[in-house]
Amino acid sequence: MNKNKVYIETYGCQMNLADTEIVLGILQNNGYSVTNNSDAADVILVNTCSIRENAEQRIYGRLGNFKAIKDQKPDLIVGVLGCMAERLRSDLVDRKKIVDVVVGPDEYRRLPELIDVAFNGDKGIGVKLSKTETYDDIIPHREDGLQAWISVMRGCDKFCTFCVVPFTRGRERSRSMDSVIEEVKQLAARGFKEVTLLGQNVNSYNDEDSASAGDFADLLAACAQVDSSVRIRFTTSHPQDLSDKLLYTISEHSNICNYIHLPVQSGSNRILELMNRTYTIEHYLQLVEKARKIIPGVSFSTDIISGFPTETFEDHIMTLDVMRAVRYDGAFMFKYSPREGTKAFRMEDDVSEETKTKRLQEIINLQQQISFELNQELIGKEEVVLIEGFSKKSDKFLSGRTDTNKVVIVPVDNKIKPGDYIKVKIHRATSATLFGDFSGLVNLVQESLSLIG
Ligand code: 5AD
Ligand code: SF4
Repeated sequence: MNKNKVYIETYGCQMNLADTEIVLGILQNNGYSVTNNSDAADVILVNTCSIRENAEQRIYGRLGNFKAIKDQKPDLIVGVLGCMAERLRSDLVDRKKIVDVVVGPDEYRRLPELIDVAFNGDKGIGVKLSKTETYDDIIPHREDGLQAWISVMRGCDKFCTFCVVPFTRGRERSRSMDSVIEEVKQLAARGFKEVTLLGQNVNSYNDEDSASAGDFADLLAACAQVDSSVRIRFTTSHPQDLSDKLLYTISEHSNICNYIHLPVQSGSNRILELMNRTYTIEHYLQLVEKARKIIPGVSFSTDIISGFPTETFEDHIMTLDVMRAVRYDGAFMFKYSPREGTKAFRMEDDVSEETKTKRLQEIINLQQQISFELNQELIGKEEVVLIEGFSKKSDKFLSGRTDTNKVVIVPVDNKIKPGDYIKVKIHRATSATLFGDFSGLVNLVQESLSLIG
């Protein structure tokens, strides 16, 4: 084959980044090579996100850019993958005349065949969802590095009323524990130092079939045991399913990061019920308190939606109250965006754009203040940091992250290199970044990777 250069752009969540690596693994097995230059590509793929309207608008804009390339090069194949492919299907082909291939998240194995269909002048469309596809046997294409993602389960059965994911990614299904552990071993052998286990709702992970069957806590423990110098992270946890067993597992393994992403979405029980989140704020706060007892020093991040249908000023204040009660280290904060096909789409989107924006800004301001205050408390303390590389702003500084996922900047020092765990004494902090000085290498045998002190 001579038309074999593929260029891919990825939008959306970490799950999509992991899927792109699976897609590239599949394409490379079929004779394709990857290019970072869209002008040189024979096939341009866009792995897309439908979670909010503005994500889709951005991608439509990008497809417009690719049209210009295609005008110059009519043989070019342009394909849409992922959630938009699933949601919009043949509409994409009809509305965006440049799209030749549309492949949803469960049909990536057929991508080579569907690209061939397009090279032969037809449209290559594969949008069936599967109850079983996990790409368990596919080796994802990964550049060498320190940080890797592994998707351990796919789909979501939660049906939060605002969310399109159960429709675009289908039902929950888990990969086998054996294959995930094997992948962690291979990554450790290649020198990776951090692995993030991914799923829309990782706490529902359940391997029923393989010899080493188990739940998410079992999986996490087994991954942590592969190599104590490899940090294990995971996302996302649903507050309904976060088990005590999981909390104890985190506390017992020094290389499982003391960091839990626990989306709260709203601080109002009435809104949580309309969202079908299946927990109350009281349950949520008790869970946070329990986690803090079992895992000293654990930090939390969250997702918050402002302006869900019927949200009143009082509901909004309750969201701010929860933020103050938990004091999150970080938050992803969004304006509610109605998604066709979801239950909430049938509710009236009655909070004005102006109010949504104002409330979102208040949420962002509060989070910034809390992050700033939490980071100030670390001044004078020593943190364990995994060094990742030069800082974005200057090659006189190195950048790394703590176990609790905070970015730390230290001056370059010939005793330290990327991949090292070092101790850093913090001397300055903003809401987003800690600054400190190298105060010694971490001896992994003797010391915990967790926070010191
Ligand atoms: N509008 C706004 N935010 C949304 N999210 C999911 N669906 C929507 C929507 N329709 C947010 C939720 C979720 C995160 C991944 O995206 O906060 O946790
Ligand atoms: Fe969407 Fe809710 Fe599933 Fe998360 S848990 S993917 S918000 S339906």
